[in-house]
Amino acid sequence: MFFERPDAGETAILVHISIHSESEQEDPCEFEELALSAGAVPVDTITGTRKQPSPGHFVGAGKLEEIAAAVRAHKAELVLFNHSLSPSQERNLERALKCRVLDRTGLILDIFAQRARSHEGKLQVELAQLQHLSSRLKRGWTHLDRQKGGIGMRGAGETQLEMDQRMIGQRIKAIHKSLDKVRGQRQQGRRSRERAEVETVSLVGYTNAGKSTLFNYLTNAQTYAADQLFATLDSTLRRVELPNFGPAIIADTVGFISHLPHGLVEAFRATLEETASASLLLHVVDAANEDHQEYIDKVQEVLLEIGADEVPQLQVFNKIDLLDDCQPRLQRNEQGKPVRIWLSAATGEGSDLLLQAISELLADGMVEETVVINPYQASLRSRLYEKGFVEAERVDECDGSYQMRLRLPREELARLQQEGVRLLKREQQPTAQATRQALAEEALDHGLSSQSA
Ligand code: GTP
Repeated sequence: MFFERPDAGETAILVHISIHSESEQEDPCEFEELALSAGAVPVDTITGTRKQPSPGHFVGAGKLEEIAAAVRAHKAELVLFNHSLSPSQERNLERALKCRVLDRTGLILDIFAQRARSHEGKLQVELAQLQHLSSRLKRGWTHLDRQKGGIGMRGAGETQLEMDQRMIGQRIKAIHKSLDKVRGQRQQGRRSRERAEVETVSLVGYTNAGKSTLFNYLTNAQTYAADQLFATLDSTLRRVELPNFGPAIIADTVGFISHLPHGLVEAFRATLEETASASLLLHVVDAANEDHQEYIDKVQEVLLEIGADEVPQLQVFNKIDLLDDCQPRLQRNEQGKPVRIWLSAATGEGSDLLLQAISELLADGMVEETVVINPYQASLRSRLYEKGFVEAERVDECDGSYQMRLRLPREELARLQQEGVRLLKREQQPTAQATRQALAEEALDHGLSSQSA
């Protein structure tokens, strides 16, 4: 791209070193899955332990020779480190091993780059890649020749390094600008969904758990589903009709992974924020994977990181078709609330139970009541409209008071009652089903068209 490096290939040597001083150790099995997911063919894994990384080559001289021997023996084209390497370490290793070296962040960025689908996702990945690259340019590559000045260039004497940095800086600026625009549209869509009280249900889960497959089954959408990590990089929104509830939005999100590189979390913050503002999370788990509990914990960690740990969750134990004698079922807690569902997104068995459980959980937090507002409580009335709680309104011709049909979270209703707002008796309350439906349709159209823009 900006400078010459040995070509990337497919045959890869994996290097995983246990470092005593590192508080968070990476998982070697997950690393192999990542490598496979990037399209590499791991032919050998070199392991070892060190008190701390060596500044020059990360590993010591003996280990370096062991890796070099493995590269020669397998004619490997790529060496992947399950660690963060400094730019100079990466460069020294490439020189010593005579093949391309990629660290964990570079590998994950590569996977993200391959999988990004939407305009926003592609921009997010490019931004993270350029930020990673520019950190690499800071201290390295000064050995490259000085460039001649040219039209529009900063004059004679600009080094290749300076030129690369300037070009990258310009591109980063342009991406930020485009992302701001896309995010504005996304927020607008989210606001109108909120105004109409259309609930959003976000699918979350460790990468490869089956989120996209479930999303497709539930919405009949054609999202990309592949047996590779991170098949989904863009939060995709679709509408579903829930039995006994009405319309809701289902959002498919990016697959989670432990210790996501910081730059990527930043780049995907907008997408992940969507998750934190959802009404309900469907935590999809690959029940056929024997380490599934570990993956559940990793997902919980990421949810905590993005501030989504308080959002109500329903666990979806997927892939029961791969388990012996496992029937679709819904598990409830002591209060009778749905907590876990066993199903197969591939065959669809259990999906009716899922829809029912989602409806139950979404309806649980919301209440419908009619309140009476006096004519002089104009600011309270406009606050209720602002928050999108109002479904219908009728003016009492005798005393000028408003009867307002509200749909709102239970705790908001309690707050109103504390403020002295009076509830109308149930038998006097009008139905507002039709009004709600119309409001929801309008907002959905708006939200979905901004997404596809
Ligand atoms: P990321 O986008 O990487 O986060 O993955 P994901 O969680 O969206 O997983 P995806 O839907 O792409 O599914 C991963 C693999 O599991 C694909 O090969 C699916 O065909 C397969 N899969 C998903 N659900 C089921 C299921 O219920 N049964 C079986 N047998 N396979 C499934």
